[in-house]
Amino acid sequence: MHLQRPVNEGFLILDYGSQYTLLIARRLREIGVYAEIIDGTRQTEPKEDFHFHGIILSGGPDTVGDEGARSLPAWVAASKKPILGICYGMQLMAEASGGKLRSGHEREYGKAHLSFDFKELPKYAESLRSLPKDQIVWMSHGDDVEAPDDSFVTLARTDDKVVAVIAHREKPWIGLQFHPEVQHTDHGEALLKAFVFDICKAPRNWDSSQMLNASIERIRQNVGKGKVLMAVSGGVDSTVAALLLTRALGQEQVHAIFVDHGLLRKDEAIWVQDQFKSLGVHLTTLDQKKEFYEELAGITDPEQKRKIIGRKFIEAFEAFAKGHKEFTHLGQGTLYPDVIESAGHGAGAKVIKSHHNVGGLPEKLALELVEPFRYLFKDEVRIIGRALGIPSILVDRHPFPGPGLAVRIIGAIDAEKVRILQEADAIFIRQLHEHGFYSQVWQAFAVLLPVKSVGVMGDNRTYQDVCALRAVTASDGMTAGVGDLPISFLVNVGTEIVRKVNGINRVVYDVTTKPPATIEWE
Ligand code: XMP
Repeated sequence: MHLQRPVNEGFLILDYGSQYTLLIARRLREIGVYAEIIDGTRQTEPKEDFHFHGIILSGGPDTVGDEGARSLPAWVAASKKPILGICYGMQLMAEASGGKLRSGHEREYGKAHLSFDFKELPKYAESLRSLPKDQIVWMSHGDDVEAPDDSFVTLARTDDKVVAVIAHREKPWIGLQFHPEVQHTDHGEALLKAFVFDICKAPRNWDSSQMLNASIERIRQNVGKGKVLMAVSGGVDSTVAALLLTRALGQEQVHAIFVDHGLLRKDEAIWVQDQFKSLGVHLTTLDQKKEFYEELAGITDPEQKRKIIGRKFIEAFEAFAKGHKEFTHLGQGTLYPDVIESAGHGAGAKVIKSHHNVGGLPEKLALELVEPFRYLFKDEVRIIGRALGIPSILVDRHPFPGPGLAVRIIGAIDAEKVRILQEADAIFIRQLHEHGFYSQVWQAFAVLLPVKSVGVMGDNRTYQDVCALRAVTASDGMTAGVGDLPISFLVNVGTEIVRKVNGINRVVYDVTTKPPATIEWE
């Protein structure tokens, strides 16, 4: 059991595997309506518990009609609700009505210019007339609609004559060959608003800043007089979840557990304890450094490291839970993107890394789950965090991987290497704050390489480890760019690290994007 969805009406987004599916849901919430993502091939209409005003068909990598390509479920084609088809979604819609598609004819990627022709605009779509006739839109496709069926009118074409906007003459079906959800589409928001408010006539029902009270109410209803055990990592999601639960239920009903595996940032355990104390959340820290170091001794394989840490973490948590039978619920900071597997996050994709985080606790604990953020995005959790009064140094923290410094010390781990890396990392992070770069990057950290190089300090030869600095830009960590930090700043950081951290005599900057590299080195 987990908390029910926050509201029972809104929009359905059918996912066909586009990298932008999550973004469509976020955009709808930003304009004030709740949206949920479901598998685009789902064969039954989800009508029992969710009232939807309209359907959005996402883009996707398939080619309509190819073997294995996802198709439009019969209940969608038969639905009386307005439908907005985006790219692949538009092609599905066009094909379902007998239109002609073509594959690989006009590959367009990037900005395109289109012109509207409103002469035959259907009545239900009248509000589109207020959009600028000429627009720049963002395209990303290899297939398109060559000729829609006569039941559709073509409302816009690009300069290359690609059919860009179609509308059914009677049914409220609109198809877009571009992405209104991405920022590069100049009037994307206006288009989404026209669909949501004018064509679907949906009421506004979502305001991230208003979620706080509703969440508190739902937690009270679900947990009642129960007691919640909450695993925390010091990161944004679990911290906000722990405080929200505490505010909803009171201090005596919520207990946070923090496992110190000895692979945290410098002084992190004390910092987390101080933060929780000032937030008024009960916290117990389990000091497991010795146990983790023992099991990790001599292990160099990244996956083996990750598996050992995941297992040890669960063991530590289970041991605590077994000794404290008073708990009825397990709190987790699970986010919406973690829940919808099919949404661009590669259901059935190859395992690149075995992820471990505080949300990965086993179900055999026999505690009921409370997941207050199961339907929310990270930026919405940050809004709740701010509304609860959590300071920016906590709410706007960079992400930190569950296995911690173990995946940033390449090769075998020992306490001395952890100390060296903590020192270097702390210098980098402090300087990022001091120069105002911290909030300009998604994540920044130091990595310790098992590579020795020769240096000279004073008159002496040194032969010590190399430290790599990594700073990336990203919006969700699925892809990443290289942080554009000034070379003079990096030189300063490198100089301070080599001067102050005994064990490092050379510093390099990682200039690889993701893909092909990942953000963490292991
Ligand atoms: P990668 O290295 O896969 O990282 O490009 C993407 C994002 O995920 C974080 N990360 C993790 N987070 N448990 C977590 O909670 C993990 O095991 C884990 N491994 C990587 C990483 O820091 C980056 O933000």
